[in-house]
Amino acid sequence: MDVLAVEANLGFTRAGEVIDDDDGRGLKRAISRPLDGDFARQFEYRRCRVRDWSAPGHPPLDFRAMGFEAISLASSDALQNLLAQIRGAGEISGQQARRLRRLLTGSVFPLSRRRCLKVLNVAPEGLIMRKGGPNGLKVDPDVEMGEMNGHDVALAIHGDQDVRGTPLKQMMRGWAPWLFRHQTPDGSNRYSPLVLVNLWIPLQQLTRPLALMDRRTLNAREHQLRYALPTEAFLDRTEDMRENDIWAFLHDDAQQWYFHSHMAHDQAYVFDTLGEPHGSFILPGEAVAERCYLQLRGLREQLAAGGAIKRCDSAALELPADTTAPLRQAIESMARLVATVPVDQVGKPAADVWLARASEAMDAVVRKSLEMRVVALLLPDVWPFRRSAGS
Ligand SMILES: [Fe+2]
Repeated sequence: MDVLAVEANLGFTRAGEVIDDDDGRGLKRAISRPLDGDFARQFEYRRCRVRDWSAPGHPPLDFRAMGFEAISLASSDALQNLLAQIRGAGEISGQQARRLRRLLTGSVFPLSRRRCLKVLNVAPEGLIMRKGGPNGLKVDPDVEMGEMNGHDVALAIHGDQDVRGTPLKQMMRGWAPWLFRHQTPDGSNRYSPLVLVNLWIPLQQLTRPLALMDRRTLNAREHQLRYALPTEAFLDRTEDMRENDIWAFLHDDAQQWYFHSHMAHDQAYVFDTLGEPHGSFILPGEAVAERCYLQLRGLREQLAAGGAIKRCDSAALELPADTTAPLRQAIESMARLVATVPVDQVGKPAADVWLARASEAMDAVVRKSLEMRVVALLLPDVWPFRRSAGS
């Protein structure tokens, strides 16, 4: 049965972490803590209802009104092949990143309300791949965070860039609020066709999906907070640009949140980099997925080591009622493999087949996504605007 919405925890700034901002903009600020600081000190989990916008009968998303929308990437075979390769490898190479930028630049994607989005430029900085295991499990704890790889899934709800903040302020010499369309608590630009958007491609996200807020339900003056994000751990920048001015958010019951339960890389989100609230969350049922994942990992290690196999207790799967259908299936596949580990077949072909299936089933519950910053034009979806470069 389709699950229309899930009850889940989203991470928000604690009310006690808010101070007055002293920049003369009349805004509030969240205190900056080190990136590797204690999550619980700065953020709190609040129970939210997160609606699955892929459920039948759901009205279409709307970039201009809601702050986010999904576009189809299905028409480009070259792009789909590249994304499948990156998903399989679990990381993105410099060459693949260049190819991805080339394939996207100049493309035009239809949006709702007779608009389209023409990609002018994919920013050289900020193309990253994220990976996270079910229920917050770190799948490769030894991989160091680099510029593009080794990034965990974002835990806290945030907005990616303040239009008046670093580094945009330095890069565009203060012109960004005039050039880019934006909605900011202390001013907006609703006329410019030039947008700075995140292109967020879910390579796979049966677990840890991205939640996005319908921006019409945000009280920006009360709940949107300036926040200086330290970047030295993953970016090499000059002294005046060490901190990114991004947004943090306080929770409010009026806020409405959305996710998609089975989005793959034939679709991508575009959302407003200049403030759209977003972050990942843990779905109901992920604790069971994590347990099955760890059981399979243990059995896989025992089989590979060639010793005696200790069968796991295959306890009944007690999944919450609002476990999404794709996650339920993935958990059932893992549980079947746990129950059928070929204990007497070590070193034989049956064990190799099982090992390959176990790796595949484990990989399916690892969230992998790509994100990048894109400068684009919001245009009427009519000829000649809808023509992609080269088409
Ligand atoms: Fe983000």
